[in-house]
Amino acid sequence: MSSTKQGELSGALALVTGASSGFGADFARILAAQGCELVLVARREERLKTLAEELAREHGTVSHVVALSLSEPGSGQILADRVAELGKPVDVLVNNAGFGIHGNFLDQAWERQRELLELDVVSVVHLTRLFAPGMRERGRGWILLVSSIGAFQATPTYAIYSAAKAFVLSFGEALSGELKGSGVKLSVVCPGVAATEFIETAGQRTTLYQRLNMMKSRTVAEAGIRAMLAGRACRIPGLQNSLPVFLLRFAPRRVATALAGLFMRND
Ligand SMILES: NC(=O)c1ccc[n+]([C@@H]2O[C@H](COP(=O)([O-])OP(=O)(O)OC[C@H]3O[C@@H](n4cnc5c(N)ncnc54)[C@H](OP(=O)(O)O)[C@@H]3O)[C@@H](O)[C@H]2O)c1
Repeated sequence: MSSTKQGELSGALALVTGASSGFGADFARILAAQGCELVLVARREERLKTLAEELAREHGTVSHVVALSLSEPGSGQILADRVAELGKPVDVLVNNAGFGIHGNFLDQAWERQRELLELDVVSVVHLTRLFAPGMRERGRGWILLVSSIGAFQATPTYAIYSAAKAFVLSFGEALSGELKGSGVKLSVVCPGVAATEFIETAGQRTTLYQRLNMMKSRTVAEAGIRAMLAGRACRIPGLQNSLPVFLLRFAPRRVATALAGLFMRND
């Protein structure tokens, strides 16, 4: 992806959640290369500071580090208040932070499940609710939501996660339609498996299906930013992901669910 600073994002303020690792760090790198000033959000402050130093060195980027858990109720407003102190509006919102929990629903701790719902669903809606109105008023803005190919079919062993990502996809596609003509572009990127910390955090062992289909984090992030700039409502990076999602439309739902469970099982 071009690293020119002459593009439409030059000088824009971009907020990236989950920037301490994986896609989020790559979204930040790509946006920095396009001339954005950045707000980097996640819990691991040291990682964010190291990334901020890298972006300053490589692109002369100004970054603002916000160490915050978005799984806590009210955290969206805390973040918005911190950003308001910068005195600049957010032009680009990348709602990327998220995690999955692998295993049977009934065997998982409720507190962890609550954190997932708060981060993967509530904070995505709340941050969009907080920052999109300003974009609409100014007639300029870009929003990227990170869903998953898990959104397209229920996935046994990832029951809450696939449901959460289905919510994000449905919400994003609907809002993308509502924002048409407003000057604000909203896209949902639906990655398949990629080399980040996701699988380890979910407590899963990498399956054969995942090993065969693993994408690079940077490739996914580039596809996401391209989709966002083009205002494409939904983008599934990689033919190994988009083709099965297309074909599954023709399968009965119970077959799609059974296949998804089969590919994700560890035993
Ligand atoms: N990799 C895949 O195979 C894959 C496939 C489809 C979709 N996705 C989605 O892609 C997004 C990014 O995940 P990734 O693959 O890049 O995984 P990752 O490497 O584990 O990154 C997750 C990011 O989310 C942040 N995060 C986790 N809990 C948080 C919290 N409570 N508050 C704020 N930030 C939090 C993490 O930072 P801290 O730990 O420092 O807070 C980290 O920066 C997620 O929404 C995930 O569901 C991933």
